[in-house]
Amino acid sequence: MRVLNNWLKEFLDVAAPAESRTSKMAFADNSKPMPGTSRAGLRRRVFAWMMSKGNAKYERAVAERKRALLGVLSGTVVEIGPGAGANLSYFPPGIRWIGMEPNPFMHAYLRREAERHGLQVDLRTGSAERLEVEDASVDAVVSTLVLCSVANLVGVLEEIRRVLKPGGRFVFIEHVAAPQGTWLRRVQRAFRPLSKTFADGCHPDRETGRAIESAGFAPVDLESFRAPAPIISPHIAGVAVKPPA
Ligand SMILES: C[S@@+](CC[C@H](N)C(=O)[O-])C[C@H]1O[C@@H](n2cnc3c(N)ncnc32)[C@H](O)[C@@H]1O
Repeated sequence: MRVLNNWLKEFLDVAAPAESRTSKMAFADNSKPMPGTSRAGLRRRVFAWMMSKGNAKYERAVAERKRALLGVLSGTVVEIGPGAGANLSYFPPGIRWIGMEPNPFMHAYLRREAERHGLQVDLRTGSAERLEVEDASVDAVVSTLVLCSVANLVGVLEEIRRVLKPGGRFVFIEHVAAPQGTWLRRVQRAFRPLSKTFADGCHPDRETGRAIESAGFAPVDLESFRAPAPIISPHIAGVAVKPPA
């Protein structure tokens, strides 16, 4: 009972964006819904809370790849859709980390995680479709389990290429569509309307690997693997490099 109580308290308190946590603001103008109390807001709040709980089995399965891909980064790193901060423990000290997380209910969880790992973060409410970063100014862009959700995949990949320095790396771990004709692909397609609504726009049957390979990066070093997650498997992990100008 106490555990349930603590979870509820945390859900209502930590998951609320800063502006709705001051009770005066929350009740001053009750003609407008408080952020997070509309149906869509509530879904985003619940999603953030779920992400903050993590998935230990999944994280164990990808930990080695994350260490290899993220642990070697340096300079300015932009992470798109960092969520509740599942990747923060993998970054080496000394990087400049900028996060573009459009769901404000994730922010408090992420900041708490950053504090735990002693990482300075520059967390913004931006989205990957429009990174507020100068052209060719970033050493690496990181995306894990995000490209399934973005509204404009081709546009996001173009934006990533725009902000990377020549030779800069786009590092990704993403779930992708199962091969055409398989039962899993059919399940993914059937599941899509539900996951779009309840999992923040996630498309389980997106051909993300192909999109990365045709987005003008070279070389693209990509491996495919199975993740211990029903429906959102197979996965791809790799690095796509912005070619010299
Ligand atoms: C499944 S979560 C993954 C979070 C984190 N990257 C991880 O691996 O745990 C998807 C994340 O992508 C974010 N997201 C969705 N659409 C986005 C967009 N257009 N730009 C940036 N982030 C986005 C969501 O808010 C959410 O934090």
